[in-house]
Amino acid sequence: MFGKRESTIIRDGAALGYDYVPEVLTHRESQMEELKTLLEPTFRYGRTRTAFLVGGVGSGKTATAKRFCYDAMKYAAKEGIAFDYAIINCRQKFSEFEVLLALVRHFDPNYPDRGFAPSEMFSAFKRHVAKSGKRLVVVLDEVDVLIRKGAGDLVYNMTRMGEEDPKMVVSLILIAQEYSLGQIDEASQSTFGRANLVRFPKYDGEQLHSIVKARADMALVPGGINPDAISLIADLAAGMGDARYAIELLDIAAREAEGKTLGVVTAEEVRSAKARTFSVVTESKLLDLDLNGRVTLLAIARAIKDKSYVSTADAQKTYEVVCEEYGVPARKGTQFWSYVKNLESQALIVTSMRSDEKTGGRSKHISLPDIPSKVLAEKLETIMDEETPPRLYNIRGGKTF
Ligand SMILES: Nc1ncnc2c1ncn2[C@@H]1O[C@H](COP(=O)(O)OP(=O)(O)OP(=O)(O)O)[C@@H](O)[C@H]1O
Ligand SMILES: [Mg+2]
Repeated sequence: MFGKRESTIIRDGAALGYDYVPEVLTHRESQMEELKTLLEPTFRYGRTRTAFLVGGVGSGKTATAKRFCYDAMKYAAKEGIAFDYAIINCRQKFSEFEVLLALVRHFDPNYPDRGFAPSEMFSAFKRHVAKSGKRLVVVLDEVDVLIRKGAGDLVYNMTRMGEEDPKMVVSLILIAQEYSLGQIDEASQSTFGRANLVRFPKYDGEQLHSIVKARADMALVPGGINPDAISLIADLAAGMGDARYAIELLDIAAREAEGKTLGVVTAEEVRSAKARTFSVVTESKLLDLDLNGRVTLLAIARAIKDKSYVSTADAQKTYEVVCEEYGVPARKGTQFWSYVKNLESQALIVTSMRSDEKTGGRSKHISLPDIPSKVLAEKLETIMDEETPPRLYNIRGGKTF
């Protein structure tokens, strides 16, 4: 009533969220068909299968696997088939132990998180599967992280469950990014060699255009975005062929336009969104990190400042300061290094051997991908401040409660 009013552009904010799965995935019809054909014997005859979805970043692998599971559940209910699925993101559940815990807890939510060895947990999982009498599909998303953690055997054993006992019907959908295939060791390659490959090529500009258009139709009010703003988003994301980046641009641009009076998303908000986003270091990846990962990455971002590289030793010194600031126990050498390697396995940083400015000898150095260190540090600080329990604010010398 008084003065300027903010416009309403976003109709359904959830449709812009990073874990939203649309009903229909355009340009992924053939991959969906392949997946259905591959896994049909699981539904029909209780035969186990392994599908391996491979493609670049934001190429629709996770969304396709999830949509498949959701639709399969409906189909099974209609046909009277006892079916269930479990979707596990191995980047969030780093270790073999955590993945096994998630699998057992799928059936028994009260299963304790200590006291059992992985082999016992795997047996518990098998017993549950057999007892449930259900045909199960397990999605191991970002499975390369698990393999690099040395848990290739678990994946292999899961592919063999049906051969061991026909009552245990567990089919797998394994998902990995294309680049990680080279990093999978030989032993694990034999596991993947048995799997049926479904490829997810990069989206081109036109395909991204129609994906963004469809998402805008769903999420925004009619006419909420100018056609040239959609084209610009598609162009910006076409380099990586990355639909996630395209939708993130749409989301940020729409939120910015929402605060203005014009009532429509224009190319200007898209440009501004571009300036605030980075294709590799997306907000969703930062949100997925646990506290140790966030503290380590913040330390790296702060230590690197405007340089291209920072030595691991210098990063670790800053890490100790950041830990103190956030009230997190600082870990020593090998544990700190494992945090660094975890960040690298998620493509958030890159490590390399370089000659050290100070000592002249060669040592491990860390660099950041396409994001200014200051922006990264600010993003992490915002996330951590929002999620840090109030009592920790005392340590930072901020508000007292
Ligand atoms: N064909 C499509 N139609 C509509 N939305 C899509 C399509 N493909 C991907 N998306 C959306 O783009 C985003 C990224 O897709 P998804 O998470 O499936 O990528 P991914 O291949 O798993 O990438 P990563 O390897 O980085 O995990 C999601 O929000 C998803 O809903
Ligand atoms: Mg994914």
